[in-house]
Amino acid sequence: MTMSRQLLFSQEDIQKRVRELACDLSSDYKGSELLIVGVLNGAYIFMADLVRALTISCQMDFVRVASYGSEKESSGLIKMTKDIETDISGRNILLVEDILDTGLTLRFLVDNLKVRNPRSLKVCAFLDKRPRRKTPFEADYVGFTIDDVFVVGYGLDFNEEYRYLPDVYKLVGNEDKNAEGAK
Ligand code: IMP
Ligand code: MG
Repeated sequence: MTMSRQLLFSQEDIQKRVRELACDLSSDYKGSELLIVGVLNGAYIFMADLVRALTISCQMDFVRVASYGSEKESSGLIKMTKDIETDISGRNILLVEDILDTGLTLRFLVDNLKVRNPRSLKVCAFLDKRPRRKTPFEADYVGFTIDDVFVVGYGLDFNEEYRYLPDVYKLVGNEDKNAEGAK
């Protein structure tokens, strides 16, 4: 099926919300050291904007996970394909993810990092698809809450395509007349 896309959040909407999140984080972590852990590949664009909007200093590291499943959904069989390279014991950790969907990826990552005894461990997700949860999971910071739609852009992909788009789009089937053709 040919995919089309509809604008969901513009660059302007996104940048405004990222500045708000950075403001909350800067105030919540003021006076404490902070290690931000990004989940590759999806989170890197959001994280790049977020850290540059912070008014506090932070360090950064990255994890990468692979999940076996269909193109649009994780199966719950998750494995870490790249670990962080920092000792997180006694440190304040903020996990940054592109989207919280079934919750399985972040559940896995939080459980995996918690046993390393961080001082604190919080989660910031750019998007939260609440109706899709398969395991109870609440992020501490959320950019936007969305319905059960598949989205691309601003780091989010479909088959590794569309991550580069500066706005967020909903992917829809070509029967939708208002949709802009996907490139
Ligand atoms: P979860 O484990 O189901 O919460 O899924 C998290 C991962 O699924 C995200 O990091 C994304 O890679 C992927 N994902 C879930 N929903 C979407 C979407 O709408 N667009 C692009 N990727 C998605
Ligand atoms: Mg991802």
